[in-house]
Amino acid sequence: MKNYKIAVIPGDGIGIEVMQEGIKVLNTLSRLNNNISFDFTWYDWGCEYYLKYGKMMDEDGLEKLKEYDAILLGAVGFPGVADHISLRDLLLKIRQGFNQYINLRPIKLLASEDCPLKNKGVEHIDMVFVRENTEGEYAGVGGIQKEGTKEEVALQTSVFTRKTTEKVMDYAFKLAKERNKLNKVTSVTKSNALNYSMVFWDKVFKEKSDEYKEIETESFHVDATSMYMLQRPETFDVVVASNLFGDILTDLGAALQGGLGFAAGANINPEKTYPSMFEPVHGSAPEIAGKGLANPIAMIWSVKMMLDFLEHKELGNRIMDAIVEAVKDREKLTPDLGGKATTSEVGDRICSIIEKMG
Ligand code: NAD
Ligand code: IPM
Ligand code: MN
Repeated sequence: MKNYKIAVIPGDGIGIEVMQEGIKVLNTLSRLNNNISFDFTWYDWGCEYYLKYGKMMDEDGLEKLKEYDAILLGAVGFPGVADHISLRDLLLKIRQGFNQYINLRPIKLLASEDCPLKNKGVEHIDMVFVRENTEGEYAGVGGIQKEGTKEEVALQTSVFTRKTTEKVMDYAFKLAKERNKLNKVTSVTKSNALNYSMVFWDKVFKEKSDEYKEIETESFHVDATSMYMLQRPETFDVVVASNLFGDILTDLGAALQGGLGFAAGANINPEKTYPSMFEPVHGSAPEIAGKGLANPIAMIWSVKMMLDFLEHKELGNRIMDAIVEAVKDREKLTPDLGGKATTSEVGDRICSIIEKMG
């Protein structure tokens, strides 16, 4: 019997609702399978916690989280607390503090009717983003000069280290080999304007392309990439991007899948020096929070990614098979997909499909 200690941070808004469904799925799997069990420890860190205690997480929060096999996170941020405080002091603190430098975000269409592109279906949309997740434009370096004067200047410096850039690209090339789809890595750049950071990025990408000769490579500017993703999504396999470009393009990718309700993600520390964290791409969606309208599939898919990472791929595949089955009955989905079901009804349904599959 393998027992996993999981830290659960539901966070804010719909993060709290979709987390319930992710946990439901894990409990169903452990009930059906004598070889695996989970101990969940819930942390009520988030914006409400901040309004009560003046901090987004405990001072020794990272020390506490270090002890777990993995972390599940719902979403962070809510009106009433400035986003740059809530996100920097909780989500980004964990990603950076635990050196989760890989942000893996699959973009895969499950049902052709969810794709907003005409003449594109499930056979056209299947790519994975490898987003650099700890530095780049999110390094947090900068400041305000001459604040409050007419000469005020805001600086936000990007940081690209050779060590991390190489590791992120290595990860992307290895993933392309493993996927064995187009055997291709696309690099997202903007070296025409960003004459230090992205020229460096291109240089490292060229070095890595020479190292992995069996993998085809291409490099596009971020503006052109956003167009090609809409025009010919089937030509993408693994995409490697900086923190900010990867953030923006994965919401665009979510749209290709049918919306943020399908977009799953993993923040990975490949060396396993620290726990990795699994969370949907979406935020707390304050305007639909507390109404049972949130689609829990992105969270449940992120749980699948956690099981894959913990080397329980067979269980991960069972979750994926159940999600694929669940999206076939359109009425029984949440309203973002045109259905009539609530968040918890979709979670229940996926659990009962898993149970039926045995
Ligand atoms: P958002 O992702 O919360 O919402 C964008 C849009 O997608 C909204 O229309 C929302 O209703 C819809 N949506 C998102 N998830 C959905 C789901 N599961 N089911 C159905 N519809 C869904 O982005 P936003 O509005 O820019 O941000 C809201 C808050 O969340 C902000 O505080 C922001 O900083 C934060 N945020 C947090 C994370 C995170 O924790 N990883 C990610 C993005 C945004
Ligand atoms: C995401 C989010 C975060 C990011 C924000 C909330 C800091 O948009 O996970 O995609 O930019 O990484
Ligand atoms: Mn984002």
